[in-house]
Amino acid sequence: MQRRDFLKTMVVTGAAVTAAGMGVGPVVKRGWGARKKEDIGQCKSVKVTCVSETAWFDSPRMLADIKETGGAMVSSYAHPWTQENIGGYCALVEVEQLDGSKHTILMDTCWRQDWADYVFQKSGVDTLLDKKKIDLMVVTHEHHDHYWGIKSTLKRYQNIPLVIPNTFYPEGKLLLAGKYKNDIAKVDNDIPHTGPLTQLGPDQLMKVYPGVAIKMYDLPIMNRVRGEMNLFFNVRDKGLVTVTGCCHMGILNMLYWADRNIEGAKPYGCYGGLHIAAFENWDPKFDDIIKGVKKMGLEKIACNHCTGWVWATKARQEGLPIVLGTQKYKEYKKIPTTGPGAKDNVYLRNGDAIVFG
Ligand SMILES: [Fe+2]
Ligand SMILES: [Fe+2]
Repeated sequence: MQRRDFLKTMVVTGAAVTAAGMGVGPVVKRGWGARKKEDIGQCKSVKVTCVSETAWFDSPRMLADIKETGGAMVSSYAHPWTQENIGGYCALVEVEQLDGSKHTILMDTCWRQDWADYVFQKSGVDTLLDKKKIDLMVVTHEHHDHYWGIKSTLKRYQNIPLVIPNTFYPEGKLLLAGKYKNDIAKVDNDIPHTGPLTQLGPDQLMKVYPGVAIKMYDLPIMNRVRGEMNLFFNVRDKGLVTVTGCCHMGILNMLYWADRNIEGAKPYGCYGGLHIAAFENWDPKFDDIIKGVKKMGLEKIACNHCTGWVWATKARQEGLPIVLGTQKYKEYKKIPTTGPGAKDNVYLRNGDAIVFG
């Protein structure tokens, strides 16, 4: 049995596995009946750099793309996306362990390949990949803006250790195998991933390093995607930090899950897309999310991407600790149409970074 298949088998059956080659810990299944909370250990700090949060630059154009091809239930692989409007999502996560050692995780890999190449170069991710200095890559979910730029990663580091949800559709699997080309949606990859692959199943928690874990949530997501994962970091003396791609499972669901299942989980910070007002439309229930997050006691909320500028602005007005970004994103060759001109930047945008710990 190939090593790759071996890892796959061990994980999908829910058995505990130590993937020594990846330097990562066991995978455990947390069902509804689970009583004992999981101890994921502690780390010293975590730094997240926003490589790119601009999946698209103009929200009305993106909405029109979705509507023109039949709406949000249509597969992302069937949409002729407006190429000039798209970028991608990617974050670089650096963890310092209690003993001073460090681990580097690449979360997601953008959408358009030329945008991925550009932001990798701007952030130094290109060199890290070339020198194999990324320990692990996590693709949070199969959405185009997080996954379709995979070739830009694989052409630099073909055997990068990788974790994905086990709910990818056939197109997504072929894309990873380097056997996919789609001229309608304009996505392709001819470089197969050859490194260790772990596929997390519904409700599985993977302990990656001390204080670091990945959780999979099985849920249907717009544009025919299924399942999303987030990263948890238990930072000593601070609390729990969540790092997300889109957070389609919802920030409150994610934090409730952590409260029920992770030993000593005290919410401290978050980074990433929160998928609340993704297209900048307001819904009264968003006020309830503000109230709910307030009760959680988070001390640092670094949001961007599909959170919705409108939500982040209101959340800040209501007293939530929204971390402000800089104006660095304006140095990038393309900037989003939402936000520029505002006095304060309520998103952590391209080129910004945050340290928890
Ligand atoms: Fe996204
Ligand atoms: Fe998404």
